[in-house]
Amino acid sequence: MNNIKRPRGTMDILPEKVRIWQHVEKVTAAVSEKYGFSEIRFPTFENLDLFQRGVGDTTDVVQKEMYTLETKGSGESRYALRPEGTACIVRSIIENGLCHDAMPQKLRYNINCFRYEKPQAGRYREFFQYGVEMFGADSPLADASVLSLANEVIGALGIKGVTLHINSIGCPDCRPAYHSALKEYFTAHKDELCDTCRERLEKNPLRILDCKSPICSAIADGAPKTVDHLCEDCASHMDTLKQALNGLGVVYTVDPRIVRGLDYYTKTVFEFICPITGAAQSTICGGGRYDGLVKELGGPALSGIGFAMGINRLIDAMEKSGVVIEDDNKPLLYIASMGAAASMRAFSVAARFRAAGKYAESDLVGRSLKAQMKYADKIGAQYTLILGDNELETGCAQLKNMATGEQTAVEIDTFLI
Ligand code: HAM
Repeated sequence: MNNIKRPRGTMDILPEKVRIWQHVEKVTAAVSEKYGFSEIRFPTFENLDLFQRGVGDTTDVVQKEMYTLETKGSGESRYALRPEGTACIVRSIIENGLCHDAMPQKLRYNINCFRYEKPQAGRYREFFQYGVEMFGADSPLADASVLSLANEVIGALGIKGVTLHINSIGCPDCRPAYHSALKEYFTAHKDELCDTCRERLEKNPLRILDCKSPICSAIADGAPKTVDHLCEDCASHMDTLKQALNGLGVVYTVDPRIVRGLDYYTKTVFEFICPITGAAQSTICGGGRYDGLVKELGGPALSGIGFAMGINRLIDAMEKSGVVIEDDNKPLLYIASMGAAASMRAFSVAARFRAAGKYAESDLVGRSLKAQMKYADKIGAQYTLILGDNELETGCAQLKNMATGEQTAVEIDTFLI
């Protein structure tokens, strides 16, 4: 019979890799806390409607990539595994009344997400996101603050060669006129567009700007730019954001091709791109403002802005940047033993050390003394102690410092390091 394998597009994170994951979790939490973001946790699955209304019916995420669940029994709603976190958090702050607390509300999260996409380097069907969301702050300084946080996290992780691309996709006041201009432009090229983009032309022409096909991409190069069609409010929002970023020394380029794949965005959108990953999927962070989403999902008129980073992609970028995270959990003491009585005594010394809050190991697999010493070296024990008949008789043994080779006589049942 064939062995059962993990589902396509999922991953096992083995202990050696978990170290770097924990490091990323620690760094993202520490930097987020400095900006006042508190952690929030929420369900892995939600009502399907949440994503249809929140993320948008015309998006690839909702149309093609959702894992939906049919539950047994009648009268139950249909659910979907979360493809992202923003809609879930908006649902949660409305449901739990956080919208009525003092603003801004600043929340951060570390979640697994599910999207039925074609797996490739940097693209999984179950993947992990670290993200933040800030509610109730309309000022472009909120955008600058969120961008500065993302920039600081990427720097603190030691990722090199990252560029920040920002854009504004306007608001419900200025977007219809821009949509018309785009539609007019792309209609003139309709026959050259790919099938997907021909569909997008009707439903959401903005998404054509995001198409990776070389022909669509070349056509999109000549398309009208959002930044030339912004209303006064959106244009001044963008100007102040740029000033604030300049003041902070955060380097960016204004990139009219950044439009994002989710429907809820208004005004500022951005991506941090890291080409050194070498993969087609080089966006390590994406986000933007979504001033209409809380209201759309039944809450008060409350603005929002945030981002999410793909943790897999961050780790890949860290590795390509030469970042190494050492395993610092090495045993303080390894007690090697010869014979059954010595083995039992070694076991109790290890227990005594652990009771004192220190990491100690003794042999559990019946290795020879020579093999035990080799193993102690392999797991990086700082000190070793050898127990044989002689040591049991006298109650004393030689404690060896593995780094210096220095030996000290100690009382087996009472010594501590
Ligand atoms: P997103 O651009 O769909 O935005 O995803 C954010 C990040 O998650 C991407 O930049 C990428 O690093 C990672 N990611 C997305 N899909 C995959 C995948 N299949 N495999 C591996 N990594 C992936 C959002 O999800 C928004 N909720 C971000 C946001 C928060 N906007 C405002 N607030």
